[in-house]
Amino acid sequence: MQQTVSAAIRAAMLECDPQAKVMAARKVARDWRLGRLDFAFDVMMPEQPGRPEAPELLPPGRMPRRRKAGSERGRIALWHALAHIEFVAIDLALDMAGRFGAEMGERFVGDFLSVAADEAMHFALIDRHLKTLGSHYGALPAHAGLWSAAHDTRHDVAARLAVVPMVLEARALDVTPSTLERVLAAGDERGARILERILDDEIRHVRFGANHFVALAKQSGAAVDELWKSLVSRHFRGTVKPPFNDSARLAAGLSRDLYAGVA
Ligand SMILES: [Fe+2]
Ligand SMILES: [Fe+2]
Repeated sequence: MQQTVSAAIRAAMLECDPQAKVMAARKVARDWRLGRLDFAFDVMMPEQPGRPEAPELLPPGRMPRRRKAGSERGRIALWHALAHIEFVAIDLALDMAGRFGAEMGERFVGDFLSVAADEAMHFALIDRHLKTLGSHYGALPAHAGLWSAAHDTRHDVAARLAVVPMVLEARALDVTPSTLERVLAAGDERGARILERILDDEIRHVRFGANHFVALAKQSGAAVDELWKSLVSRHFRGTVKPPFNDSARLAAGLSRDLYAGVA
């Protein structure tokens, strides 16, 4: 008998070592694509994914101030923060597929496992870049808040889609152009290429989220923008605010009418 997709996803989520999680996430996505996993959900997703002992996770208010952007330490702090976001994003995508796959179907599982594989690649690229700067993932403290958005929406796939791809990942589309400028201003061509590649992938991730959200809203007879706004106001503690990267958002299937009303 083949392994079930949920068992493979759970095992990848429980990996603590970053390298092992990267390999496991990419393997689940590949095995699913090749038909080596059964579409069956016989195990639960973990409440907390496995993570390494370092970085130390700090509440947002206790994170050290960002250093000056141009300095060596500032550059390392930036790439370390990005590495952490991608590391958590691996588990966010795995959890999406493993937790909601049974009700959402095979296409949904395939979409979010491909996202998990992308996030694993993003993490690996950034971690390698950090090493060329003489650092590595785990060398600095990191933000503890990222997983909580997922945890808070663990009972409702519409809320999860509304908050994770359509708010948090869409936010990454907004901030990447200015990060890219800073990185280029520091003469970091290789870093700029990594960010450009990530931006392309993140547009696709937001689009997957938006497409599945729209399908869910239509099924339930709800208006897409009303449902999204009510879920965001109930489940997202931050604010959706400009500047927006309108062209990237549009490419991802988010119209200005949708998010401008919330801002
Ligand atoms: Fe990513
Ligand atoms: Fe992503």
